[in-house]
Amino acid sequence: MTETFSGSFTQQEPIPDEAIEAALAVLRHGRLHRYNLAKGELGETALLEQEFAAQTGARYCLAVASGGYALATALRAVGVKPGDAVLTNAFTLAPVPGAIASVGARPVFVGVTESLTIDLDDLAAKAGAARVLMLSHMRGHLCDMDRLMQICDAAGITVIEDCAHTMGAAWNGVASGRQGAVGCYSCQTYKHVNSGEGGLLVTDDEEIAARAVMLSGSYMLYERHLAAPGPEVFERIKYHTPNISGRMDNLRAAILRPQLRALSTQVARWNERYQRIEAGLRGTPGLTVIERPEAETYVGSSIQFLLLDWAADKVQEALRRCAARGVELKWFGTPEPVGFTSRYDSWRYAESAPMPASDRVLAGIIDMRVPLTFSLEDCDLIARIIRAEVGAVWQNG
Ligand SMILES: Cc1ncc(COP(=O)(O)O)c(C=O)c1O
Repeated sequence: MTETFSGSFTQQEPIPDEAIEAALAVLRHGRLHRYNLAKGELGETALLEQEFAAQTGARYCLAVASGGYALATALRAVGVKPGDAVLTNAFTLAPVPGAIASVGARPVFVGVTESLTIDLDDLAAKAGAARVLMLSHMRGHLCDMDRLMQICDAAGITVIEDCAHTMGAAWNGVASGRQGAVGCYSCQTYKHVNSGEGGLLVTDDEEIAARAVMLSGSYMLYERHLAAPGPEVFERIKYHTPNISGRMDNLRAAILRPQLRALSTQVARWNERYQRIEAGLRGTPGLTVIERPEAETYVGSSIQFLLLDWAADKVQEALRRCAARGVELKWFGTPEPVGFTSRYDSWRYAESAPMPASDRVLAGIIDMRVPLTFSLEDCDLIARIIRAEVGAVWQNG
């Protein structure tokens, strides 16, 4: 009998009861705006920032409306101006080059390796082209962060980390988002904590933090923050920093705080599932598993593999066959994007020269979400289906 999978690749777990209770409390008192506080009240949003700063070891934290908003705010806060070049990954998701474009700057794309991380040789070659790198840890893969920081420090490049897929991850024990000048995270439903929409920004730099707070729409209420610099820092910047509203609200913050407390438990659950799928895929003819470096602590909320140098019609056939058995795979390399864009040549508002080595990798990247609603047995079944269908297409050549 042919096995099929009937689960949903987009169904996340319900919001935990503790978070629902906290959300109801906010709804009952009605003070949803972050600066709408009763006497003596600290507020869910300020507490969320304080807790996330402590969790990541950052001096400052700001909660905002989305991950993409955090990225654009970081660019403004480090001083990127219209017309400036900003280095970024050729392989990432549309909000990353979109954040660069939103401030009128120009993305300069850096290639991708077979490890699905930024090509550090290409970065070194292009280091003179910009003074800011927006580094995307796309799909949770961390590059050699020590070498990346050496390249950037030597070239005087400020690094903004896009940690949309690496909340809870680390490189050599350092939390993702803490090597660069700014770390940006997403709290959108498909990420590692879920408030529908939402973002977090961390930094140790007091002026970047103060500018980010003003940019997010603090009016002159910055003293109501618990993870922001002192008023003397705001005095230096407050009349020169525009308000580009994008605040977090107390309702979403209330939902997020219990989820952040459970993050390490959730990471362990994701990785159990990831490792079951990875083990099941290993040795499939024609399929390359992405090896994870020892220095990397990852969060297996999605899994990728390569069908390297496969003809496009064969990739499509393998995906079709998996889909017919209920396994939903995404082909990041598809020449005509469907539902999302993830490669540099899809963002035609930005100039780019062809990158043949990256194109070869991009053409073979297959991606699959691993929601926590999957059981370990589901993961075994999914791996068996992919193994059988990819193997069959490969063998029929
Ligand atoms: C790699 C990456 N960066 C940034 C973002 C932006 O996050 P948000 O959806 O919270 O704006 C996403 C969202 O999908 C993403 O996948």
